[in-house]
Amino acid sequence: MLANKTIVLGITGSIAAYKAADIASKLTQAGARVEVIMTEAATKFIAPLTLRSLTGQPVVTDMFEPAAEWSIEHIALAEAANVVVIAPATANVIAKLAAGISDDMLCCTVLATKAPVIVAPAMNVNMFENTITQENLAKLKARGFIIIDPAYGRLASGKMGLGRLAEVEEIIGTIKQVLGRSGDLAGKRIVVTAGGTQERIDPVRHIGNRSSGKMGYAVAEAARDRGAEVKLITAPTSLPEPAGIEVIHIETAVQMKEAVAKATPQADALIMAAAVADYQPKSVAKAKIKKETPSLTLELVRTPDILTEVKGNFLKVGFAAESEDVVANARQKLEKKQLDLIVANDITDSSSGFGTDTNKVTLISQDGNVESLPLLTKREVADRMLDKVVELLGKKP
Ligand code: PMT
Repeated sequence: MLANKTIVLGITGSIAAYKAADIASKLTQAGARVEVIMTEAATKFIAPLTLRSLTGQPVVTDMFEPAAEWSIEHIALAEAANVVVIAPATANVIAKLAAGISDDMLCCTVLATKAPVIVAPAMNVNMFENTITQENLAKLKARGFIIIDPAYGRLASGKMGLGRLAEVEEIIGTIKQVLGRSGDLAGKRIVVTAGGTQERIDPVRHIGNRSSGKMGYAVAEAARDRGAEVKLITAPTSLPEPAGIEVIHIETAVQMKEAVAKATPQADALIMAAAVADYQPKSVAKAKIKKETPSLTLELVRTPDILTEVKGNFLKVGFAAESEDVVANARQKLEKKQLDLIVANDITDSSSGFGTDTNKVTLISQDGNVESLPLLTKREVADRMLDKVVELLGKKP
């Protein structure tokens, strides 16, 4: 989705400027044309040559430098940009943007652009919390700028506080979300579930499964990148929270059911990639169970079937991890749970299913259509499945 997009990356004079190199590199590798504008202060922290080497594009540092390609027409970059990102953004630049000052190439470009502008502040905690900075950020927000709040952590001063540049993945996720606004899922609300539920046995133990959440997170991110408003209901995973997505954390099947019921009334589609436990302990021990007896029997009871029980006029998509008769078993689940689409995972392939980065699936829809896909990354599977969702949403009354 970043291919052929022009991203203007503004870098300002903060110790976090080195992280902009990572942003520039990742965006370039993803196919974007990254045009870097550095303020003079930024060049004291990181060399323009680094950015030039990573992006393969000339770096603008001086509005009046005659050799620089973009300097000739000072608003050319403003017009070429699909999105402008300032990361890191100092209090000084934020103040200048809020006041409409355009005394350098970066501020000039921001003032002249019609593209969305993302600002990722990074500064000393006191500077960030200062009312002036907060008022300036509020002004920018009110004018439609997208602000990525800084994180809490150790700052250059050695102090702990709010002011660290947000994680690179969060910044890139926000860029994708902004660029996806006009995608084929724009205006759609999609609820996605991910991960394996954990059914408590006692305060320290649970029954779980090997779902890593990767498939569900890939679906959520792909839907976001295509313009959807996404709610991700997730069981515990070790994955970072994706940017631009409302993330709802749950542990058990019952909690997932409640979260789905709450999230779906306005939804256009519910996509359940989660591996939901089918059974839960009948009761949860209040204290840690001691190993005093040679054997232990746990009584298990069924969990609610979320997909079957959830009501509403939205598209229902299920996943099925199958080790035999993959298509036939998945089709049975499609019928039994009254789904519009089911994604059958062939888990006999060790590169497919739980914990892997890839998946081999067959898409089976209610209208009888069956499409077997080769081994793909989970992100590719998500996009192929969403192609089908877009088609089915188009047909839905
Ligand atoms: O998380 P990863 O490591 O990336 O792995 C991804 C995955 C293999 C977990 C995922 O791709 C997958 O296949 N998820 C479904 C696992 C499964 O076999 O589910 P199931 O056959 O038990 O259920 C079928 C469907 O009903 C699923 O969409 C499930 O979310 C849903 N379900 C299941 C049980 C239940 N009590 N309520 C439900 O709604």
